[in-house]
Amino acid sequence: MRIGIVGTGNVGGTLARLFSRAGHEVAVANSRGPDTLRGLADELGERVRPVTVPEAARFGEVVVVSVPVGRYAELPAEPMAGRTVIDTGNYYPERDGRDPALDQDRTTSSELLQQHLPEAHVVKAFNTMRWDHLREYGRQSSAQRRYGVPVSGDDPAAKRRVADLIEQVGYEPVDAGRLAEGRRHQPGTPVYLADLDGAELHRQLGAP
Ligand SMILES: NC(=O)c1ccc[n+]([C@@H]2O[C@H](COP(=O)([O-])OP(=O)(O)OC[C@H]3O[C@@H](n4cnc5c(N)ncnc54)[C@H](OP(=O)(O)O)[C@@H]3O)[C@@H](O)[C@H]2O)c1
Repeated sequence: MRIGIVGTGNVGGTLARLFSRAGHEVAVANSRGPDTLRGLADELGERVRPVTVPEAARFGEVVVVSVPVGRYAELPAEPMAGRTVIDTGNYYPERDGRDPALDQDRTTSSELLQQHLPEAHVVKAFNTMRWDHLREYGRQSSAQRRYGVPVSGDDPAAKRRVADLIEQVGYEPVDAGRLAEGRRHQPGTPVYLADLDGAELHRQLGAP
């Protein structure tokens, strides 16, 4: 599959590593331009190419958005139209700036991204695990434990596509319901940064 990554920092860079290792073609972009990602691309190999943000969005059948939530508004909507967009974002007001609607839990950061990208199918995933754990904890074939990754979104086909990717990189997708229910796996919830296995994550999230 072709995967675009917009925001290639700790999490986006880790996902570039995991997805390319799983055999996918990956286009990576950040805010400073492709030249600043050549080192990472050289390290990860020929399946990873540095591009601009609109190029990454157009390239991907699936596009990862892994930027600080306060930067969502800078992202171009048109090239993401029709794409499955994986949102790894977590709202941290001291970093992102205060948003009263988020502070009062009237909406979620993923719903804000969906509003900004109205023709994309936003799925919240890969947001609960620290990036260095995400890089290391995917199950090797011999390991017993498989860590769970919550998935929330409104488009069933997009969720299935993301769930397949989660499995391919050694984690267990756990359905957390619709996009609005992404609030159940945000910062401050019991499952956030908890590194739970799939069954325990499912139990803690309850039925969607
Ligand atoms: N760190 C974690 O362990 C962790 C775990 C799960 C989820 N998250 C969440 O995932 C998101 C990313 O976190 P991170 O730790 O990976 O952040 P990070 O290391 O600071 O990387 C952020 C990336 O976003 C890029 N970016 C910022 N504005 C952009 C724009 N307008 N267009 C394109 N790229 C832009 C940055 O590019 P430049 O460097 O060129 O500015 C950088 O590549 C955050 O919402 C975070 O809360 C983090």
